Amino acid sequence: MTELIRTLPLVAAQGGVLSRWLTAWRDAGNRGGDRSTALPPLVRDIVAPTAATQGVGDVAASRLFSLRTIGKLFDGGVQALDDINLDIREGEIFGIIGRSGAGKSTLLRTLNLLERPSAGTIEFEGRDLLTLDAAELRQLRRRIGMIFQHFNLLSSRTVAGNIALPLELAGVPESHIATRVDELLDLVGLREQRDRYPNQISGGQKQRVGIARALATEPRVLLCDEATSALDPETTQSILALLADINRRLGLTIVLITHQMQVIKAIAHRVAVLDGGHLAEQGSVGDIFTAPTQEITRTLLREVIGNDIPAGVRDRAARLLESGEGRIWRLSFRGESVDRPALTEAAERFGLKINLLHGYIDDIQGMPFGSLVVAAAGADAVLDAAAAFIESQDIRVEEVVL
Ligand SMILES: Nc1ncnc2c1ncn2[C@@H]1O[C@H](COP(=O)(O)OP(=O)(O)OP(=O)(O)O)[C@@H](O)[C@H]1O
Ligand SMILES: [Mg+2]
Repeated sequence: MTELIRTLPLVAAQGGVLSRWLTAWRDAGNRGGDRSTALPPLVRDIVAPTAATQGVGDVAASRLFSLRTIGKLFDGGVQALDDINLDIREGEIFGIIGRSGAGKSTLLRTLNLLERPSAGTIEFEGRDLLTLDAAELRQLRRRIGMIFQHFNLLSSRTVAGNIALPLELAGVPESHIATRVDELLDLVGLREQRDRYPNQISGGQKQRVGIARALATEPRVLLCDEATSALDPETTQSILALLADINRRLGLTIVLITHQMQVIKAIAHRVAVLDGGHLAEQGSVGDIFTAPTQEITRTLLREVIGNDIPAGVRDRAARLLESGEGRIWRLSFRGESVDRPALTEAAERFGLKINLLHGYIDDIQGMPFGSLVVAAAGADAVLDAAAAFIESQDIRVEEVVL
């Protein structure tokens, strides 16, 4: 392994050729073939040590990071992380969300050992990170790119100079650096800004430089610490689109931390929710958004999905209930159940009167989901039967107590 790591600068030096191999490798995987045969042996060993063994549903083989019982106790007694267990899979965009002070940055920084955990173990590509010596750690960090909220660019270097820096540090020959920098400038859409200095470009462009610089040494994973928090909403969208595109095109694993659910919703595949240094819950973005189990998640979700019933709607619902027998239901739909006419059918079958009070339908990475708050008027027995029927159509029914 150490030998392989030593050859990395050489591989990075191959610039465009490597990018083409990566494309071939990814495409072979997309066609369901053995991706590793698309690569020359040296590159195969470095970029795809798990590819040959990776099968569909073989989660163990596709784990990039495995964290077990990770804790971090800072000097001064702050327990920033406590008993964190999670896996980050190759090729996914993994989001970590939590309030300010929840431990997000600390957790992200343990992934490249900028922060050493005080308890637990971290494996990267099956290797125990905590046993690496200083030289191995320096090499490893080339395989783990990182971008920051405030970009951390060198003001005395041009855009191209900033992107070239990690290649210079890795000892890549100058002629290869120029080619590689041009490719990276194209990838992030900054060819025209190549000779400008950081104070001559916008915040969004600075983050693009940060992304290009982080990708220069062909890392396996990109860590993003609040990469869009300093940007306006439109620029945030364009940076997120770029990250999603890089994830798709290069198959690059991305771990991003954020306090904004919008960011998770826009690009993450799976998400972990941190609360006071604890892992509150984790799962696919679809599951966490449509069926959160923890109060902290529901609180964070309020920012993107209006789950709260507005006061005016509550008053209207209360008046409807006062005027006769009935219940207020919240109906939660996801996937195909969004398309079912279950409510109309229930109204017809059971002779219910249904008033729509509040609702939305949204989409998480192609999966529609939504929530409707309705007032259903009818006798108790009829309402019970109608609720059971609606639930049989894969729609969750909860009674709302006003
Ligand atoms: N070097 C340090 N020494 C002592 N305490 C620290 C240190 N770094 C972080 N902490 C504390 O650890 C806790 C978690 O901090 P962390 O920076 O990981 O939070 P965060 O979730 O990234 O917050 P934010 O959203 O504000 O960036 C906080 O209580 C913080 O004050
Ligand atoms: Mg932070």
